[in-house]
Amino acid sequence: MHSPSPSRTNGATGQPAPAPIVEARSLSLVYPTADNRPVTALSEVDLTIARGDFVSLIGPSGCGKTTLLRVIADLEQPTGGRITVEGLTPEQARLKRLYGYVFQAPALYPWRTVERNVMLPLEIMGIPRAERQARAREELQRVGLSGFERKFPWQLSGGMQQRASIARALALKPDLLLMDEPFGALDEITRDHLNLHLTQLWRSTGKTCVFVTHSIAEAVFLSTRIVVMSPRPGRILDVIDCDLPRERTLDIRESPEFAAIAHRVRDGLKEGHSYDD
Ligand SMILES: Nc1ncnc2c1ncn2[C@@H]1O[C@H](COP(=O)(O)OP(=O)(O)O)[C@@H](O)[C@H]1O
Ligand SMILES: [Mg+2]
Repeated sequence: MHSPSPSRTNGATGQPAPAPIVEARSLSLVYPTADNRPVTALSEVDLTIARGDFVSLIGPSGCGKTTLLRVIADLEQPTGGRITVEGLTPEQARLKRLYGYVFQAPALYPWRTVERNVMLPLEIMGIPRAERQARAREELQRVGLSGFERKFPWQLSGGMQQRASIARALALKPDLLLMDEPFGALDEITRDHLNLHLTQLWRSTGKTCVFVTHSIAEAVFLSTRIVVMSPRPGRILDVIDCDLPRERTLDIRESPEFAAIAHRVRDGLKEGHSYDD
């Protein structure tokens, strides 16, 4: 099972260690409903996410993955427990724009060019036009979309649209990137390509990523840690260290180490199901 929060002091220097990027304790969330049958989406969730980690949340549909991501992003309020984001409340972290959020669907405005979509959050922040454009171009280049700045979203493939929405999240220069099944709707070949691209992007930027998926292979390929969640109400069943080398190519999926981690994730998911049978 997941170990409790690591000590806040660095043993070697005695200096206080930086706050974890995310720390949740006994987190619960109950959605009220119109028919008076409240839905418990999260129950007693304890989770610590360290800086620089790539953490995947995996679990069956409806288990509370999106809810947990939305709580981190201050888009939902927990009904119990505590959560901090970089040592702050989620609201403070949101106001300081410490995270970027990539939604399940690319959510690009069809009447804006790709570049102007990426510039939009910067516009809302009041960043001057020249800087907005420079940042948008830099991030579009990072996701491999140089040359597509003036296209409209509907002129791009699904994979390219999702890359544009990752560029939009990166344009805010967040420490933390929250991604909710960004590649769920894409074909397998495109998804493989984007997984490879994302792992390179994560390594080169040093960001912390929290990534929702229900693909075991995707979780093992991308993550340093995998959080296995139970069917509703979402609880954490296991946190699996994914100690493959940080530098990964797609062939790593053929290795025995990869298979062993995937097996453990599958077992965790099975265990969760038997509780509710
Ligand atoms: N706004 C809401 N009101 C009521 N129930 C909700 C709301 N949002 C999600 N739920 C319910 O909470 C549970 C968890 O949802 P969600 O976090 O979206 O799961 P996942 O992302 O793992 O599929 C589901 O049963 C879902 O129907
Ligand atoms: Mg979801």
